[in-house]
Amino acid sequence: MKRIAGRDHPQVLVDAQGNPVNVDKRSLTTIIDAQSGELDHPVKSNLIQGKDKQSNQDESLLEKVSSIINPSSSTSNTPPTLTSVNGYRLGDVSHCLNIGGYPVVSDGILFENQQTFNRSKIVERAVHACGSAAFGYFEVTNDLSNLCKADFLSKVGKITPVMVRFSTTTYGREYPDSARNPRGIAMKFYTDEGNYDILSVNFPVFFVRDPTQGPDLIRSQQRNPNNFRVNLDATFDFMSLVPESMLANTWFWSDHGTPVGWRNMDAYPCHTFKWINSQNQSVYIRYKFSCLTGIKNFSNADAIRMCGEDPDYAKRDLWQHIDNGGTCEFKCQIQMMDENEAKKIPDFDPFDTTKIWPEDRYPLVQFGRLVLDRNPENYHRDVEQVAFSPGSLVPGIEPSPDPLLQFRCFLYRDAQLYRLGVNFHQIPVNCPFMTRQYHPIARDGAARCDANGGVESNLYPNSFSQPPHARPDLTCNEKPQALQGYLARKSHSRHENELPVDNEYIQARQFYLHGLNADERTHLHQNIGKGFRSVTRSEIKLRFLVACYKVHPDYARGILQFYDQITFNQVEQAAQKVHDKHTVDRAKGYEPYDLN
Ligand code: HEM
Repeated sequence: MKRIAGRDHPQVLVDAQGNPVNVDKRSLTTIIDAQSGELDHPVKSNLIQGKDKQSNQDESLLEKVSSIINPSSSTSNTPPTLTSVNGYRLGDVSHCLNIGGYPVVSDGILFENQQTFNRSKIVERAVHACGSAAFGYFEVTNDLSNLCKADFLSKVGKITPVMVRFSTTTYGREYPDSARNPRGIAMKFYTDEGNYDILSVNFPVFFVRDPTQGPDLIRSQQRNPNNFRVNLDATFDFMSLVPESMLANTWFWSDHGTPVGWRNMDAYPCHTFKWINSQNQSVYIRYKFSCLTGIKNFSNADAIRMCGEDPDYAKRDLWQHIDNGGTCEFKCQIQMMDENEAKKIPDFDPFDTTKIWPEDRYPLVQFGRLVLDRNPENYHRDVEQVAFSPGSLVPGIEPSPDPLLQFRCFLYRDAQLYRLGVNFHQIPVNCPFMTRQYHPIARDGAARCDANGGVESNLYPNSFSQPPHARPDLTCNEKPQALQGYLARKSHSRHENELPVDNEYIQARQFYLHGLNADERTHLHQNIGKGFRSVTRSEIKLRFLVACYKVHPDYARGILQFYDQITFNQVEQAAQKVHDKHTVDRAKGYEPYDLN
């Protein structure tokens, strides 16, 4: 619960989800108005008209709409009576209405109970289904407003409420938290200019660069559609066939694939973004959020043990830590690159999600701290139904010409329209409660329950009902950008057009040699060697070893110390056949070369 200043109204007490829980009387109107999108408009819903007529009943109204009994309210002396969802008081709630043991169809209570239960699970996320979250705040520590006009970055000390959801990626909602998988860290900043979402993983790079490969990548780390078993054949097959994935693959198979819970890992949005200042000048940036605890990873053996002993380890650890008064804090940093320089980098494509920006050449600059200090009140309401999208941007922040990011700006909303329905922005955790919303053009749909635009016109432009102050703000237009190129179904990454084959592997080599110490490299070898035992087809393993050899011969040699079904000689001979090319012919639709 925080006392925060809304833009156009006096200080109000709300919690970071914008929920009317434990609020004082003065704030109730503001919250319901903000939720309903009715600020300053004469048209009020029946609910609010009712409230206005009986303003001394604000507290009981609050209890009625939230179905929560507020212990400090005047009605708390009267214990509540159980009711149906329609408000009918219930009698015996342990027995159905029956005739000689046969339930009767007129038993509305029996049906309501079962039907609610039958519909209690919503569609789970297609990825990142297993997770938990916490609320907190973001604070500006370094004024970078000369680079970015986003209001939440405007001055040192400015506080913005946040919500962060942590997750594993590819297995389902009930999968153990500690299994090998990239971790997701999705952040929602409730800014005065609307909700800004940053979606990150705990690796600095992603596996693919083209949006067409997104679902295939995910399927390669999901279950076998035939027998529903974890499918390392598919995982290694895909990894061995997509050369640009080698840096992410190395992170995946290292102990970074099994971090200790949610609190001990860094978060990388991976993509390049554009920051734009008030003079319309822009700079390319990459974010990094470093955890203050320092990175801690499980070994493969410890992760496996934890999956059995405490499958909810990460969820429990975060919850208990915060419940005991602890906080979880990240240092928020950016790397910067001048727009002209971005065109001339000699060794990597700065818009390619499979490549990092080396920190020695593009140093990190801190701009804030992100602190999580409060647990959600209700998992389904606040965590299961939260919706993040890389396309939720605020003025001053835009996507770069990275095709994967551009497409992700669309795909998340599509996923959520399916998962949560068209009015998911009304769910409190998704409501941009720090700003004044006014969107009479977006209307209707299932479960619409705010003012739904009232009597305002539902189209723009119009000259009849539009209030004088409702105008677009043209300063929010995206920065114009000159584009050139041709329309073609081919990659625009410089790694597939002009840079040498080896540049696809240089950064993976740097990470293998310098990003991991000797013990960590041994663990990497061991983790892959162990993984190989679940792969049935030897040509997949050989192809993957050849890709590792291209990163560094010691990489392949090290794996074979933990897997003796293939010799290093075999790998070297196969690698010779493709010494000047990848393991696949990308021009022929990623067709694998014959390595035997
Ligand atoms: C290859 C392309 C990708 C595809 C097809 C994809 C797809 C998806 C989908 C369908 C969801 C579920 C959305 C929902 O139902 O709310 C999701 C969630 C998520 N994605 Fe991606 N994704 C991709 C790449 C990435 C990348 C590059 C990152 C980060 C660098 C990322 C981070 C996340 C996170 C953190 C979540 C969880 C959000 C939450 O906690 O609700 N994804 N992704």
